[in-house]
Amino acid sequence: MIANRLPVHRPSPESPWETSPGGLVSALMPILREHRGVWIGWAGSSEQACEPFEHEGLFNVPVSLSTDDVRDYYEGFSNSTLWPLYHDACQTPQYNRSWWSPYVAVNRRFAEVAAREAAPNGHVLVQDYHLQLVPGMLRELRPDVRIGFFLHIPFPPVELFAQLPWRQQLLEGMLGADVIGFQTRHGAQNFVRLVNRYTTSRGSGQTIAVEGRRVMAKEYPISIDFVRIQQLATDPNVVARAKAIRADLGENRTIMLGVDRLDYTKGIDQRLRAVYEVFKGGRHTVDDLVLVQVSVPSRESVDEYIEVRDRIEKLVGHINGEFGTVGAVPVHYLRRSLPIEELVAYYLVADVMLVTPFRDGMNLVAKEYVGSRQDDTGVLVLSEFTGSAVELDRAVLVNPHDIDGMAATIERAISMPKAEQARRMRSLRQRVRKRTVYSWAADFTAALTAENPPAESPSESLAADSTAS
Ligand code: G6P
Repeated sequence: MIANRLPVHRPSPESPWETSPGGLVSALMPILREHRGVWIGWAGSSEQACEPFEHEGLFNVPVSLSTDDVRDYYEGFSNSTLWPLYHDACQTPQYNRSWWSPYVAVNRRFAEVAAREAAPNGHVLVQDYHLQLVPGMLRELRPDVRIGFFLHIPFPPVELFAQLPWRQQLLEGMLGADVIGFQTRHGAQNFVRLVNRYTTSRGSGQTIAVEGRRVMAKEYPISIDFVRIQQLATDPNVVARAKAIRADLGENRTIMLGVDRLDYTKGIDQRLRAVYEVFKGGRHTVDDLVLVQVSVPSRESVDEYIEVRDRIEKLVGHINGEFGTVGAVPVHYLRRSLPIEELVAYYLVADVMLVTPFRDGMNLVAKEYVGSRQDDTGVLVLSEFTGSAVELDRAVLVNPHDIDGMAATIERAISMPKAEQARRMRSLRQRVRKRTVYSWAADFTAALTAENPPAESPSESLAADSTAS
């Protein structure tokens, strides 16, 4: 397994390692343990190079990043070029030429470590946009291994990706894999179109012929550990905590909740503008309505993240200043990361969950909320530009760019009759229950371990090309 980050972290080199929270790590751990696999990744900014180590039965192989690497490869090319570009350019992507070579160099470092660690004819899964060149580099170093690549974030349409000065290199890097997974069918289709346009490989449907190999490009929508979330939602301590939060916020108020990494893609500022309009509309006051916005600090040295934080904090102040009273505010803003037990307690008290990104690969908060609502109450207001909206189409879908529309939808959610809430929530829960992070991991590894049939002869692949969409 290769990802930018290891599945463990520690606040300082003196502290013990802790497993990072999240469904992905818990879904992949059993597979890695069973096959005595290793996880190759960066240990985080405070870490210097350290030796491979075992933690909770999993072998971790740290890759070190210098201060310059963090600036150019991580904050620069990964998070100021690719991240905004792949999220519909909702912030202008920066095409800074000095970030490209460090991105190539760090990808090579990861590929070399993987080439050393992988067993003969082994399987390697490379994750996310930080490491798109690794599959190609690894294939050159170790043609015997099967390589999977999974992109956790959206893959953009041709018109946007075409802006990237290094578009061909990135596509060719990904084509080093045998199986390339995306969150949605759209992402996979965008990729095949781009391959046809900017590389010499030819794709049709979900398969691409690459120098005699056949590469699969397909959607594998990621999900949550449904059972674990459900267990937490019935845990007496979590239920008691939810009661306490409800009592603190007011028994008779409608509680709205937002939970996001503090990222400009999440549409937190537009959501606050819509909430402002709801209070301004006059049908609700601080006495009957409240929003809790949990914002988890993220990538705090990147300028755009500092700016979005400022915008959000100004808006919170603006709404509270205008509609608050002494002793009651309309928005409670928590800028911190919360343990999953505490988050589930918040999910339990949330009558209306607001998930309004401008663009999101999947959005697992939406699925966690659904997983917590065992009594089939609650309304999920969900941006139509999230990967989750494909499966969770019984949520109340919104366009986060349309502030008035979003305000009207929030009002509708607040007053939705219980029977309609239950009809929608039952259907949402069925969807999330059926496809968990465990089935995601099983499907992806099954595709990775199955041999792809060889590519067609050149004449067949030309025929395929002519029918490519
Ligand atoms: C997104 C990305 C992940 C990343 C996470 C947190 O979910 O897809 O690859 O790890 O954000 O961001 P960070 O920059 O802190 O790793």
